[in-house]
Amino acid sequence: MLTISLIWGIAVAICCCLWLIIGIRRRRIGEPPLDNGLIPYVGCALQFGANPLEFLRTNKRKYGHIFTCKLMGKYVHFITNPFSYNTVMRHGKYFDWKKFNFAVSAKAFGHRSIDPSDGNTTENVHETFTKTLQGDALNSLTEAMMENLQYVLRPPVLSKTNSDSWVTEGMYSFCYRVMFEAGYLTLFGKDLTRQEAQRTFILNNLNNFKQFDKIFPALVAGIPIHMFKNAHNAREKLAEALKHENLQKRDNISELITTRMFLNDTLSTFDDKEKAKTHLALLWAAQANTLPATFWCLFHTIRSPEAMKTATEEVRKALENSGQKISFEGKPISLTQMQLNDMPVLDSIIKEALRLSSASLNIRAAKEDFTLHLEEGSYNIRKDDIVALYPQLLHLDPEIYPDPLVFKYDRFLNENGKPKTSFYCNGIKLKYYYMPFGSGLTLCPGRLFAVHEMKQFLILMFSYFEMQLIDSQVKCPPLDQSRVGLGILPPTNDIDFKYKLKH
Ligand code: HEM
Repeated sequence: MLTISLIWGIAVAICCCLWLIIGIRRRRIGEPPLDNGLIPYVGCALQFGANPLEFLRTNKRKYGHIFTCKLMGKYVHFITNPFSYNTVMRHGKYFDWKKFNFAVSAKAFGHRSIDPSDGNTTENVHETFTKTLQGDALNSLTEAMMENLQYVLRPPVLSKTNSDSWVTEGMYSFCYRVMFEAGYLTLFGKDLTRQEAQRTFILNNLNNFKQFDKIFPALVAGIPIHMFKNAHNAREKLAEALKHENLQKRDNISELITTRMFLNDTLSTFDDKEKAKTHLALLWAAQANTLPATFWCLFHTIRSPEAMKTATEEVRKALENSGQKISFEGKPISLTQMQLNDMPVLDSIIKEALRLSSASLNIRAAKEDFTLHLEEGSYNIRKDDIVALYPQLLHLDPEIYPDPLVFKYDRFLNENGKPKTSFYCNGIKLKYYYMPFGSGLTLCPGRLFAVHEMKQFLILMFSYFEMQLIDSQVKCPPLDQSRVGLGILPPTNDIDFKYKLKH
């Protein structure tokens, strides 16, 4: 027994020495300061994961505006000076912005690589996204979403029998349910042949989506989905519903999906199930951030009487100017993109809610060795290293946003009530001050639609319902830090509220 322990002890000691001699990276001249962390491979991932904002602030104080950390075998150069963001974008030719995203998508959703250079498909997904989420396509998406939101919100919640009584529900569950159903119908259309079973179908998808989404951070970290039996089943069921034969039964499918269903991709080696998994990736991109973001918009507004009053007034005026009245039985409300874009108070509320809840990581992989020239100096970057921006650092910087943790509904408004676009750090105007949708080549292609759908949700909620928090003094729930890097963080606990039809 003693001999076995001794052999194990020697083996571990040799491995540690080998790791110290060959495995550990040493900083070369011209490279940013380096933190290898204490644990082989893992590096600083545990400290980063525990509290990314604090970890980055501490390292910034220790090393300066740029430093390198080893995270799960990768060397990540963090750029923390917002004035350098612009310069980083200008080094685009040295970065492969797709590599990381394609790899994560394949790992999480279970399809092969969608990088055309790997030969499985000819589709330029980035082009497809821009064409089918912006421009003319945005009109039909926005129209469909408004119709679907009203389809979801009006019955049975607004049925005459319970129109006088309050309904109590968790606000996050409510936002999740309403936005998921309306969003799913908007992307994948309605099954007209089995209308009565529609809601059960969507609810099943919602439960599967929740189960799959819960383990998403683990999948991004590289843990295989087979370790999570229930989430794996949930993913397969979600994909099954998105197979061509099932989508064909649905009406009014968005261009985002039809373009890809009927893509003239003769070189594609994807079968139907694998294509369905790429549709699932889009469902995730469209919902995973929008659902918590919608909650934060509603929660912060309800908690601030002034925000609620000003927003409701803006909505009332917009409906009046468009000659429409709220009515349960009448025609659904419809607002054009122009009318939606002319609502600065709702815009400011949405921006402020996203500023407070967003924790995305903007990542670019270095295609080759190169020198990164920044405001504060030049730094050598090695091939395959990652350059990362963490916008939460600037979103919560008291120099840029005084009282950064306080929700101020009018923070993004000027004195004249028009949108405010000038923000300063140390007296100098910033180009990048608001980045929940990413930046440069990885800027979210669905951002315009996302803002429209959140606005539509708020418009309908403020118009149709009276709402109250069950505990009017309730504290703001903490952000769920386990999802840092993925975008908008959900609350760690739900908040009860009650709602009833406005008379
Ligand atoms: C509040 C809502 C949303 C937020 C905060 C958000 C944020 C982001 C961010 C930060 C990225 C870039 C990720 C990276 O750096 O690689 C991204 C990518 C993406 N988003 Fe969004 N998003 C939202 C809603 C939407 C919606 C509604 C859609 C579609 C209907 C959408 C579609 C996409 C797609 C397709 C990509 C991948 C783009 C590519 O790889 O070329 N997003 N989103």
